[in-house]
Amino acid sequence: MTRIFLTGGTGFIGQHLTPLLLENGYDVSLLIHRKQYAGPHHPNLSTVQGDIRDPNSLYNLLEKVDAIIHLAGSISETTLYRYIKYNAETTQLLAETASRFPSIKQFIYISSQAAAGPSKPGHPISEVHSANPVSEYGKSKLMAESRLLLSPGNFQKTIIRPPVVYGPGDPSFLTIFQVAHHQIRPIIRHGIQELSLIHVADLCSMIVGLLLNPRLTHDDIFFVNDGKDIHTVDELFTLLQKATGKRGIPLPIPIEIMAGSAYFLELIGTLRGKAPLYNMSKYKELKQPSWCCKSEKILGFLEYTIKYPLEIGLKDTYTWYRQHRWL
Ligand SMILES: NC(=O)c1ccc[n+]([C@@H]2O[C@H](COP(=O)([O-])OP(=O)(O)OC[C@H]3O[C@@H](n4cnc5c(N)ncnc54)[C@H](OP(=O)(O)O)[C@@H]3O)[C@@H](O)[C@H]2O)c1
Repeated sequence: MTRIFLTGGTGFIGQHLTPLLLENGYDVSLLIHRKQYAGPHHPNLSTVQGDIRDPNSLYNLLEKVDAIIHLAGSISETTLYRYIKYNAETTQLLAETASRFPSIKQFIYISSQAAAGPSKPGHPISEVHSANPVSEYGKSKLMAESRLLLSPGNFQKTIIRPPVVYGPGDPSFLTIFQVAHHQIRPIIRHGIQELSLIHVADLCSMIVGLLLNPRLTHDDIFFVNDGKDIHTVDELFTLLQKATGKRGIPLPIPIEIMAGSAYFLELIGTLRGKAPLYNMSKYKELKQPSWCCKSEKILGFLEYTIKYPLEIGLKDTYTWYRQHRWL
C-alpha cells in the first residue's frame, strides 16, 4: 500500500485532506503535534507524535514512506525571524531528513499565494511571474519553497500556492462570516479590492490529484483557485449576504484604522506571547489592491472541474458554521 506522511493533518486543511487520502486508498501516517486527531478511526490511518522543528522526532517516522505532504506551518507570528523558523527552517529540515529515505518519491509543499506576492489590478499572476512577497509570512513561505527546491532529495518537489482557502471548520474565514452575519458590509478604502479564493474541498482534491501523479515529470509550482481568477470584494460580500440571508450596511474602513488595529493587536500579542491572526504581516497583505492568481495550469493538468464555485462554497461553509454553532 502507498504510504503518505502528512504534517499539519490536524489543522483546517489537514482535517479535510486526511479523510480524502484514506478514501483514495492511501495509507496515512499523520504527524500529531499539540492537537489530537479528532476524525474517525480508520485501519489505514496511524498517528505519530512529533515536531517539525526537531529532526530526531522525524527520522524514525519516514521509513517506508512513499510521499510527503507538508501542510504544517504558521500563518501568524510576530517577527520575520519566527516566520522563517516555523515555515522555512522546518521545511528545509523535513526535506533534508526525507532525502535520506530512497522510498520517498514526492514531496508536496503547501505554500501560499503570499509567497508570490500581490498582483496588479485586473492582471492575475501565474507560475511564470517572478515572486515578490510583501509580508513576513509571504517571505518565509517563498524561502521555504526555495529551500525545498534546493534540498538534496531525489524525490519530485511539487509546490502548491493557494490563495485564501475557506470552507467548513475554518477559524480564520469565520471573522468575515461574522461581519456579514452582523449585517456589516465593509468598504475597504485603498486596500484589497480583488482576490482569488478556493474552497478547501477543491484544494484537497487538487492535492490528491497531484499526489504521485505519473504525468508530473519535474519539480513544479501550481497556483490554484476556484476557477474564477478574479473576485471583487464587493462580489464576495454580495454572495456572503446571499449565503447568510442578511442585508449588509456599508461601513467604510480607512486604511489607517486597518494599520492601527494591526499594530495594536500585534503589540498585545507580543506582550502575551501569542501572535494574533490579524497582525502587521496581514495588514501588509490587506493594503494591496489585488491578490489574484490564475488556475489555468492546474485545471488543465488535472482536467479538474471545480465542485465549489464561490456562491456554492460560501453557502456550504455558512451551513456548517450554523450547524456547529460557530455562528
Ligand atoms: N488556510 C489558508 O487560507 C491558507 C492559504 C494558503 C496557504 N496555507 C498554508 O496551508 C498550510 C495549512 O494551513 P491551515 O490553515 O490548515 O493551518 P492551521 O489550521 O493553522 O494548521 C497548522 C497545522 O500545523 C501543525 N503544526 C504547527 N506547528 C507544528 C510543529 N512544530 N510540528 C508539527 N506540526 C505543527 C498544527 O498542529 P498543532 O495545532 O497541533 O500545533 C496544525 O495541524 C499552512 O502551511 C499555510 O501556510 C493556508
